[in-house]
Amino acid sequence: RWNIPERVTLTPMELYEKLSAQGDKVRTLKTEKAPKPDIDAAVQLLVKLKLEYKTATGQDYKAGCPPSDGPTLQDNGPSVTEGEDLVNPWNVTTTSAKGVDYDKLIVRFGSSKIDQELVDRIERVSGQKPHRFLRRGIFFSHRDMHQVLDAYESKKSFYLYTGRGPSSEAMHVGHLIPFIFTKWLQDVFDVPLVIQLTDDEKYLWKDLSVEECHRYAVENAKDIIACGFDINKTFIFSDLDYMGSSPGFYRNVVKIQKHVTFNQVKGIFGFTDSDCIGKISFPAIQAAPSFSTSFPQIFNGRKDVQCLIPCAIDQDPYFRMTRDVAPRIGYPKPALLHSTFFPALQGAQSKMSASDPNSSIFLTDTPKQIKNKINKHAFSGGKDTIEEHRKYGGDPDVDVSFMYLTFFLEDDEQLDKIRQDYTSGVLLTGELKKRLIDTLQPMISAHQQRRKLVTDEMVQQFMTSRPLDFNY
Ligand code: TYM
Repeated sequence: RWNIPERVTLTPMELYEKLSAQGDKVRTLKTEKAPKPDIDAAVQLLVKLKLEYKTATGQDYKAGCPPSDGPTLQDNGPSVTEGEDLVNPWNVTTTSAKGVDYDKLIVRFGSSKIDQELVDRIERVSGQKPHRFLRRGIFFSHRDMHQVLDAYESKKSFYLYTGRGPSSEAMHVGHLIPFIFTKWLQDVFDVPLVIQLTDDEKYLWKDLSVEECHRYAVENAKDIIACGFDINKTFIFSDLDYMGSSPGFYRNVVKIQKHVTFNQVKGIFGFTDSDCIGKISFPAIQAAPSFSTSFPQIFNGRKDVQCLIPCAIDQDPYFRMTRDVAPRIGYPKPALLHSTFFPALQGAQSKMSASDPNSSIFLTDTPKQIKNKINKHAFSGGKDTIEEHRKYGGDPDVDVSFMYLTFFLEDDEQLDKIRQDYTSGVLLTGELKKRLIDTLQPMISAHQQRRKLVTDEMVQQFMTSRPLDFNY
């Protein structure tokens, strides 16, 4: 026998195969209900192998996706210059405890600030007190909102479009922000609304099966419906269902695909040569609902109904691309309203994200879980001791509990008083956290109650392609 020295480092492909086998082993042990220590040991080895794989390839291990040649960039977005905040559909991070510098972001993205004049105009045109998200600068940036209002004033309608990527069964409180605001817009302007559930996107990006993503889409639809949308004015659709059944929609997808190059999506989204082709063409699918011809059943084939998209600003890259393509395929550019991010419990350096459960308050959390999470994890701008806090006061601008209250406490005067009392040291961190707990617990319980009343028939109705209560 030859005496071949043992090679210690495995190639990425060998590591991948080892990982796949270990994944199978864990699954088998679980199905066979093997003793817990055996399962734990197998899972531990799986985690260790995943780490080795990531170190070797720079990529996350994905079942069914063998490693590509050579190392790839791990970052899934365009590069950021030193000192700049990172904001793209996959990551939001900054070094500042106060959160992203949104004024700078407006300049970088080339959008416009929602200033007092625009807020006043929305109030005049809608005849309603501006939503607290507008009063407090939570929706802070826009594209072409004046144009939407001009048209609305001359009796030309528009429609609303927003969406959700169903990556898990439970949504978190941050996800509610665009939906709460969209509901308000629908109520005050009385316009049609389409909601895209990108189950295809989540299949392409996550280690989930097509069936799981579709199931999450239906589950998430229940949370969205629980926000109170009008069933006669709202169409919710799963891409996996609607794309294949709507010639209007797919025609727009291919038109968009024809007008965007690989170089452009690389520049906008940071895709690399080794990303699967599904990801590379996905932006066309998120763009398509921005055009009214994607919904002939609602707009009767009209191609000139302008679209207004409320979302957090992480989604803007998709719509920069869409706005670039629109005139070239004969459609109006969609307008946008952008929100800031609801921060992670640990601080405004990152947004609340479902992939880190400790950073999030979920819509499924119990009152006790909410209380514990806030008390344990919510980053405090208070001082270390009561004496110091009383003497020097706290800093509401970095305090996560205060930030959350700016999103959810309706009363402006109360919020102002809390800010003053916390800054002066009259209000202690524990008391501030209690205010937040008392605000969030009933809000989430009420959401859970409303969600319980959403029946399968209702979901089906919302998700059926049909005309809405508007005449086009
Ligand atoms: P998704 O599921 O990541 O997020 C859904 C919506 O919630 C916003 N959002 C947040 N807003 C405030 N604070 C946060 N911490 C926070 N996290 C998420 C997102 O900006 C988004 O508006 N690809 C999209 C789905 C989509 C979509 C759209 C979104 C398809 N078409 C049109 C908006 C508009 C996604 O995965 O979203």
